[in-house]
Amino acid sequence: MINKAIILAGGKGTRMSPLTKAVNKQLLPIYDKPLIFYPLSILMLAKIKDILIIVNKGQLNQYKKVLPDGKRLGINIVYKEQQYPKGLPDAFLLGEKFINNKNVALILGDNFFYGQNLTSKLINCTKLKSGAKIILHKVIKPELFGVASTSRSGKILSIKEKPKKYISDMAITGLYFFDKKVVEYAKKLKPSSRNELEITDLLKFYLKKKKLTSDILGRGGAWLDTGSIEDFYKTSAFVSAIENRQGFKIACLEEIAFNNKWIGKKEVLDAIQFYGKCEYTNYLKKLIA
Ligand code: DAU
Repeated sequence: MINKAIILAGGKGTRMSPLTKAVNKQLLPIYDKPLIFYPLSILMLAKIKDILIIVNKGQLNQYKKVLPDGKRLGINIVYKEQQYPKGLPDAFLLGEKFINNKNVALILGDNFFYGQNLTSKLINCTKLKSGAKIILHKVIKPELFGVASTSRSGKILSIKEKPKKYISDMAITGLYFFDKKVVEYAKKLKPSSRNELEITDLLKFYLKKKKLTSDILGRGGAWLDTGSIEDFYKTSAFVSAIENRQGFKIACLEEIAFNNKWIGKKEVLDAIQFYGKCEYTNYLKKLIA
């Protein structure tokens, strides 16, 4: 079982400068809420309540202004600073104490997931006992991501970080489920040629031991990586289109917590007070009406 997760929300954000000079990328808006709400909502939909958010140096106070300690959401949020972007597996070195020899999930702070049946898929992934599980999604430009080639039956054959030569169009999305061995393996990693610890190298430990499995986010699902300004605006437009058509919000944290019965009306009222008069609180008012 997986009850703990890490959101890796640091990074220099250089691709989005000057927007990210003063504010971390994950605090910038995707339509009507900060980007960090979206990966956090995914963990909450997976019923994970114990969360470590890793942020870059100097940004802790800004994060705490919008997401203090999770009490208002009926969850536990703790923070840790990353001194500089050493690579994704650094999450497991920084998070060793938090992980406390348990299985753990990792989600990248800039990843956006949406789709029918996503919640049941997520809950299924948290049932992992041993090994590691990744979520794959077909993309047109696999060279921009970590990629996995699979057999017809879905067995993972190989993985490669940003392959220059085509091996597959199945990208490894930024949501990973690991058993407790992950810390031990992360400690063995050496920096790659771009001087980062690579998540794909970490996954290779599991692949070699035949302990790496995958699930697919199919055509009915959307996975967007908000790496560039262009992607940021496309994701915002996507959220706006869905929300304004359906009237349901994507990643309204209080709504998820309320539906999970982690909080009641009182906490939603506290949230309304906390955010003040805005469209988001109008939505919360409807939720408890
Ligand atoms: O989005 C999925 C992809 O994410 C995977 O397919 C790749 O295998 C994986 O390496 C990663 O690739 P990116 O090049 O997109 O990773 P990026 O450096 O942009 O970092 C992703 C997020 O993690 C971003 O929000 C910043 C944060 N980050 C990154 C690093 C390297 C940290 O907080 N600390 C870090 O040390």
